[in-house]
Amino acid sequence: MFQLRCTVRDCQQLLEQRERDLVCPDNHHFDQAKQGYWNLLQPQDKKSKNPGDSQDAVLARHRWLQRRHSIPLIETLRGWLAVKDPEANQRTLDLGCGEGSFGPALFSNVADSYCGIDLSKRAIKLAARGWPDATWVLANADRVLPAADQSVQRVISLFGRRPVSEIHRVLLPGGICVVAVPGEDDLIELREQVQQAGHRRSRWEMIADEMSHAGLEVADQKHWHSNVKLEPDAIADALAMTYRGVRHSQKIRLDALQTMNVTLSADLLLLRRT
Ligand SMILES: C[S@@+](CC[C@H](N)C(=O)[O-])C[C@H]1O[C@@H](n2cnc3c(N)ncnc32)[C@H](O)[C@@H]1O
Ligand SMILES: [Zn+2]
Repeated sequence: MFQLRCTVRDCQQLLEQRERDLVCPDNHHFDQAKQGYWNLLQPQDKKSKNPGDSQDAVLARHRWLQRRHSIPLIETLRGWLAVKDPEANQRTLDLGCGEGSFGPALFSNVADSYCGIDLSKRAIKLAARGWPDATWVLANADRVLPAADQSVQRVISLFGRRPVSEIHRVLLPGGICVVAVPGEDDLIELREQVQQAGHRRSRWEMIADEMSHAGLEVADQKHWHSNVKLEPDAIADALAMTYRGVRHSQKIRLDALQTMNVTLSADLLLLRRT
């Protein structure tokens, strides 16, 4: 399995697997949940009783990804992430992995060296059920990541978390970080209809600046774009899994939505640790 580090404050030693638990040299224990994930969450890491995305948002994302609209996005990411030498045991950390569809789609040949982290118990349970051979961790990716310094070849953040200095710490020199964020026209038709004004906001340039200041150089950038016809149930899921502002507003207009053509888009960044 993926080599993890103890998350007890000021410990951070490597964990060793013993049957269904992980233990560090100072005897801090972490049990494996019956669904197969590891709970490395410390009490101070939880902001609420059910931290991370809500159950509704996680399940909406799960149904959405099962509709396979993201297959072309996965194909685009494969160009940067394909593991050419599965024997090399190069580790991949997925920050805010959610319900876990992207991991097996991109790294199915290297389950031993993949680890997905999410703060939502509902999400990590689904992820562990979908790909039991990989390592799944319930933890707060905005705190200290449960991986040793310079031990990871790839960090991915697909619409997930971006703790920049921690990403830099865990990456090996020359290691890569792949970031995906919604494009400015993502679901624009839907947002225009529901909010009666779709705000366009491009985020990737700001993220690229922030990451290059922290020692992660932009090596490539792509804009992924697709147009899909969505039925009302897919529209409801698309809104439930994104755009918090839209979710709670204009419920009446949302109920009146018909099948419509919608733009999906994402900005993708490939960064390299110098
Ligand atoms: C928009 S979803 C993306 C999930 C997945 N990467 C995907 O593309 O399907 C963002 C995820 O980040 C998780 N998340 C939010 N805050 C987090 C944190 N501090 N640490 C780890 N995960 C977090 C949420 O629970 C949610 O599953
Ligand atoms: Zn420890």
